[in-house]
Amino acid sequence: MIRLAILLSGRGSNFAAIHDAIAARALDAEIVAVISNKPDAPGIARALELGYQADVVNHRAFSNREAHEAEVLRLLAEANPDFVVLAGYMRLLSASFIEAYRNRILNIHPSLLPAFPGVDAQAQAIAHGVKVSGCTVHFVDEGLDAGPIIVQRAVPVLDADDAHALAARILEQEHGAYVEALQKLSGRRYRIDGRRVVFQ
Ligand code: GRF
Repeated sequence: MIRLAILLSGRGSNFAAIHDAIAARALDAEIVAVISNKPDAPGIARALELGYQADVVNHRAFSNREAHEAEVLRLLAEANPDFVVLAGYMRLLSASFIEAYRNRILNIHPSLLPAFPGVDAQAQAIAHGVKVSGCTVHFVDEGLDAGPIIVQRAVPVLDADDAHALAARILEQEHGAYVEALQKLSGRRYRIDGRRVVFQ
């Protein structure tokens, strides 16, 4: 059983997919915290509906990044998670936050990294003309969408796609990919060897 803290800023469909997998007993985990930096995030409403004690830590209410992160870190310390799961969390984490949870923060990115890091990855993929894109679940390090890769899933890019259509097709795969990554981390021994996450 692994303890998960979810950080989100928006829709929360990846959070909901993880919740569903736990409820279906497909994932041996417990969600011990749901935290949003946005008070109006639909993901927070969803979390409350599902019976979680969800917390809003509005970054606009703090004078700087450090003060905002200090409050998030305080809530995390109370929840004592094994992993911090970024699920559409639209804030960059400082180096000291990353260090506090080194190799225990996961993110999902809607491209096959290292292609198309940063914002609007699906639009970047369309503009570049790639025929295959996908999603990547990775550990968070100090680089932008750069840490060791845990799971990737490929998704075809169709000629008729715009960024919106591609994003929807990738999102379907994101949900399974995030659950698969957490299943692997909860059920198997692994080591991080440079950039490689090696499962035994
Ligand atoms: C996803 O596309 C994810 O890859 C990106 O942000 C989006 C979050 O979607 N990091 P949701 O809030 O989980 O529905």
